Amino acid sequence: MHTIAITNQKGGVGKTTITAHLAVGLTRRDHRVLAVDLDPQGYLTRHFGLKEKLYRADTDNIALHLTGNARGDPTDLVVETDEGVDLVPSNYDMRGVVDALSNARNRERRLQNVLSALPDDSYDYVLVDSPPNLGVLTDNAILASRRLLIPIQAEDSSLDALEMALDEIEEIEAAFGIDVDVLGIAPNLVPRDGVAKSTLETIRSTPGLEELVLPYEIRKRADIKYAMRRGETLYAYNEASDMVPIFDRLAADVERGMN
Ligand SMILES: Nc1ncnc2c1ncn2[C@@H]1O[C@H](COP(=O)(O)OP(=O)(O)O)[C@@H](O)[C@H]1O
Ligand SMILES: [Mg+2]
Repeated sequence: MHTIAITNQKGGVGKTTITAHLAVGLTRRDHRVLAVDLDPQGYLTRHFGLKEKLYRADTDNIALHLTGNARGDPTDLVVETDEGVDLVPSNYDMRGVVDALSNARNRERRLQNVLSALPDDSYDYVLVDSPPNLGVLTDNAILASRRLLIPIQAEDSSLDALEMALDEIEEIEAAFGIDVDVLGIAPNLVPRDGVAKSTLETIRSTPGLEELVLPYEIRKRADIKYAMRRGETLYAYNEASDMVPIFDRLAADVERGMN
């Protein structure tokens, strides 16, 4: 079971979009995939069309498991989506988790413990979508996975955000005595203009980053937004989109272990 977190403390860079499409891409390569929505806003749950049904559901949920207040087994959190991916949905209660864990013991290892309760051979890949900030939930995502995919938006402020993300990773490695592997940096929302190109060129030529940045880009496509609003990925909404082969390529790279 490979667990990968999709992280970047910057919002709107494509964490949720990439988690959803990578999950479906891996499923189409015959892998069993579990996607975990660790963002209290529940956008990944919405991306799979399940937010209305599940976000305020009055059952055991991921928040109760993270805070130690659940009655059932973590396996019961898993729901099936229409696109073949299994999902642990977010929940309204996730909004209180950061506060509830503020002084809790082992607070950064809660997700790791929840995931370790899943039967060992139940999934090939677990993908964890992280919230758009640094803090205990993102730390949980990183500790539970130790392998990261970092989406960036090709714009000027991305380099700063990326440096902040990499600093945070180093701090976590030092604090917990673990190694975290950045599988790749995925440029997203790339428009046609020159600013994006020059930002990407800067990142691609920065020592330490150059070999991590994927050699291809996810371009800005209205269909990606429309699909999300309908609670689908591009695979279901418009399989002919020129970004479908790009997400397939990402899935193939992840399957290969990337670096
Ligand atoms: N390549 C893209 N083209 C067009 N819209 C995109 C693309 N990637 C993401 N979006 C849209 O941008 C918004 C933010 O993306 P999202 O994946 O939710 O970012 P994050 O999870 O990092 O906050 C969403 O509305 C999403 O549908
Ligand atoms: Mg998101």
